[in-house]
Amino acid sequence: VGIPFSLGAAGLTSTGNLLRSRLPLPQPFTMPFQTPPVLKPVRSDADTDYYEITQTAATASILPGVKTAIWGYNGIFPGPTIVSRRARTTVVRHTNHLPVPTVAHLHGGRTPPDSDGYPIDFVYPVDRSYVNQHMNMEHMNMGGSMVGDTTEGHRSYTYPLDQRAAMLWYHDHRMDFTGPSVWRGLAGLHFVRDDEEDALGLPSGPRELPVMITDRSFAADGSLSYPSIDGSLMRTPGVTGSFVAGVLGDVMLVNGTPWPVARVDGATYRLRIINACNARRLDLRLDPQPDGLLTQIGTDGGLLAAPIRHEHVELAPAQRLDVIIDFSNYKPGTAVTLLNDFGDGNMSQVMRFIVGEKADEPFTVPDKLSTAESLTAAQAVTTRTFRFQSGDVSHMKGWLIDGRPFSPNDIAAAPKLGTVEVWRLIADFHHPVHLHLSPFQVLSRGIGGPGAFDAGWKDTIDLRASEEAAIAIRFDGYPGKYVFHCHNLEHEDMAMMANFTTR
Ligand code: C2O
Ligand code: CU
Repeated sequence: VGIPFSLGAAGLTSTGNLLRSRLPLPQPFTMPFQTPPVLKPVRSDADTDYYEITQTAATASILPGVKTAIWGYNGIFPGPTIVSRRARTTVVRHTNHLPVPTVAHLHGGRTPPDSDGYPIDFVYPVDRSYVNQHMNMEHMNMGGSMVGDTTEGHRSYTYPLDQRAAMLWYHDHRMDFTGPSVWRGLAGLHFVRDDEEDALGLPSGPRELPVMITDRSFAADGSLSYPSIDGSLMRTPGVTGSFVAGVLGDVMLVNGTPWPVARVDGATYRLRIINACNARRLDLRLDPQPDGLLTQIGTDGGLLAAPIRHEHVELAPAQRLDVIIDFSNYKPGTAVTLLNDFGDGNMSQVMRFIVGEKADEPFTVPDKLSTAESLTAAQAVTTRTFRFQSGDVSHMKGWLIDGRPFSPNDIAAAPKLGTVEVWRLIADFHHPVHLHLSPFQVLSRGIGGPGAFDAGWKDTIDLRASEEAAIAIRFDGYPGKYVFHCHNLEHEDMAMMANFTTR
């Protein structure tokens, strides 16, 4: 700790402070690429698949020859991948063997409120003694909902998943403590599949690669270091912290491996990329690129209407990118590097592909991918404005929406289900703004139209410094209380979150 609060150079690309590792780091592109295991249901019936996840402290080997203490879903980081079929209900029963209460949220899920992982709907630890000794009792007594199968130590989350095929992810969401919990390892992938996607015959099986990007730093003892300051302390008068801007690591992990190298066939691949960093923004491109372009087919909320060709793609924390890459364009033996132009040194590199012999005919991306509709401002029944701004920076009072810190009892908006609203979002610094339940489309940035990376159904917008954006949101789903917040997890923990209720 002890790095001064600063919105210096890093502020232009990622709002955060770099935390340096105290251990020797591996050479990039020496460790093999791995994908998280797919979780099997413990049972299935006519319309539902049931899963069990145990949240537990464990030891991982992330750096060569080093043991790293993590918190993991089933003891691994990333957690196991869940694959669901559209409109088949998925039930996940979480058991908490960690020393703290937790909250599991399915990011991008169209989920009833009692299963959405509201920030104070805790899964209490199986072992309550730790909590009694160490937990801030204020948080324990804030009255989260105890709906459903919530007995001590367990909670069942029910996901109807009546929504488009997409790459979702699940992660911890405990009020004021999401940053440290996710940093320690509480994050995993969850795919939804549907017939519309199947009909395209996209590259699948070993030709579809999840790429979960997280930056981390390591302490001298091999553990994942995180500043000791946490969100709740930011609420305490007189307490100041160094990491209010966000925590940036100096090791790039892909699916939990530092700068991995993947051997690929000379064939067409589908990469499902997610920026799961706490605070780091990414600007991705391939080097070399024979045709200079990446073909984007999808985003947070699933397939785009039509493919978009990009030379590079910016990705804010929590955003997803579905991209087709044709490795048959490369000579066998070529090393193709996924670069991050928002980072310097080692952080300008993500992973590498070594292209093998030509295999199969290349896949041709169809001109039309899906029947996704476009929302317009004219459909909106209401326009609301929200300002995402720092509190009193000189006293480090964290981050606010419309001048207010998050409180579970404060309702910022009460949209009606079945309607479309326009929300104007205004930012001081970079804030990746995320809404639960309701996907949206970006209508404009400033006086211009949507940005180059804004197409399709989003659940997170990369709101840039000194920018005003307008989004059209379709409120649809379930009545209840949900949150929207900055997905820079340190900003979220420092209260940049608010409630909306659907009715
Ligand atoms: Cu990815 Cu409210 O979360
Ligand atoms: Cu923010």
